[in-house]
Amino acid sequence: MTEFSSRVERVSISGIREVFEAAGEDAINMGLGQPDFPAPDHAREAAREAIAAGEADAYTSNMGTQALREAIAEKFRRDQGIDADPGAIIATAGGSEALHVAMEAHVDPGQEVIVPDPGFVSYENLTHLAGGDPKPVGLREDLTLDPGAVEEAITDDTAAFVVNSPANPTGAVGSEADMREFARIADEHDVLCLSDEVYEHIVFEGEHHSPMKFADSDNVAVVGACSKTYSMTGWRLGWIHAAGDRIDRMLRVHQYVQACASAPAQYAAEAALTGPQDQVEEMAAEFERRRDVLLDALEDMGLETPTPEGAFYVMPKVPDGFVDACIERGLVIVPGRAFGERGEGYARISYATDMAEIEAAIGIMREAVAAVR
Ligand SMILES: Cc1ncc(COP(=O)(O)O)c(C=O)c1O
Repeated sequence: MTEFSSRVERVSISGIREVFEAAGEDAINMGLGQPDFPAPDHAREAAREAIAAGEADAYTSNMGTQALREAIAEKFRRDQGIDADPGAIIATAGGSEALHVAMEAHVDPGQEVIVPDPGFVSYENLTHLAGGDPKPVGLREDLTLDPGAVEEAITDDTAAFVVNSPANPTGAVGSEADMREFARIADEHDVLCLSDEVYEHIVFEGEHHSPMKFADSDNVAVVGACSKTYSMTGWRLGWIHAAGDRIDRMLRVHQYVQACASAPAQYAAEAALTGPQDQVEEMAAEFERRRDVLLDALEDMGLETPTPEGAFYVMPKVPDGFVDACIERGLVIVPGRAFGERGEGYARISYATDMAEIEAAIGIMREAVAAVR
């Protein structure tokens, strides 16, 4: 009989997929985690040119092209005032691979990784793949991650804690004060703060702060990607930035699981990062408009909803049966339980879909609330 590794046996199939399968083909889809905008023309053009010139046929350096890593380093300087060294950045196959190599390089079997609950599904599962044990911590009422709760959860077995701001599935944005605290905790407890910042440019109130800029030690690693910022989920291009010895260990993993990020995607990403950024702002403004429409409607329905300050998700508290009632009526949303035990009683609604569909979805949600109350 075939035996499978215990690590992979602990990995679950995403609860999000089950919802898609339950809904019909004509359903309105508010379950997706990808922006509904085109990638920037200049990014597509850069890939086309590189392919036509025969420059994208070969492996690049395992770490990624020098030009791309310089563009990513410049992004850290421009956006966060972080003096990033291109030699301390690896281009990866999306933010997903960056999270994977970070876990593999830092987590030993039996060690714990503190993850937000509800939180992005990869954190728990990648911890399992690395042989570690996820340790979920609950969020505050406003769905932000409390540094105090993280600090309390730290033990001698803690390998890392994950911070994700703006967050999936909540849309919550951590304050500057919280990010300073996460940096202090990483410094004082000498544990890795793995900061997933893939939604860094989709912030409506205030601005994004990376814990990396407040840390005195090398204990913060930052994951980023073109996926959400530039609506380039299919290109599979992300990165990880950390201190030299951490990058060295993550490179050992990356060279065997990926060799290098896709070369055409690297050219596209370089152009996206160095080209005009107005599309990013326009997209964020459109997301904010949609969020406001949804928040008003949810409030009107009597569904308590913390105001999300970023990403493109809202997470209302919903009555029992609400998610199923929406799905039966042709609207896909995701039960909060798919993101952790403490997601029970919530639903994640993605507004990466156009306003006409959002209006129609609101009609369905009104019916669903009435049906289950
Ligand atoms: C919080 C978070 N991190 C990472 C990722 C992975 O992004 P990528 O598509 O770049 O692998 C996602 C995708 O949904 C996400 O929501």
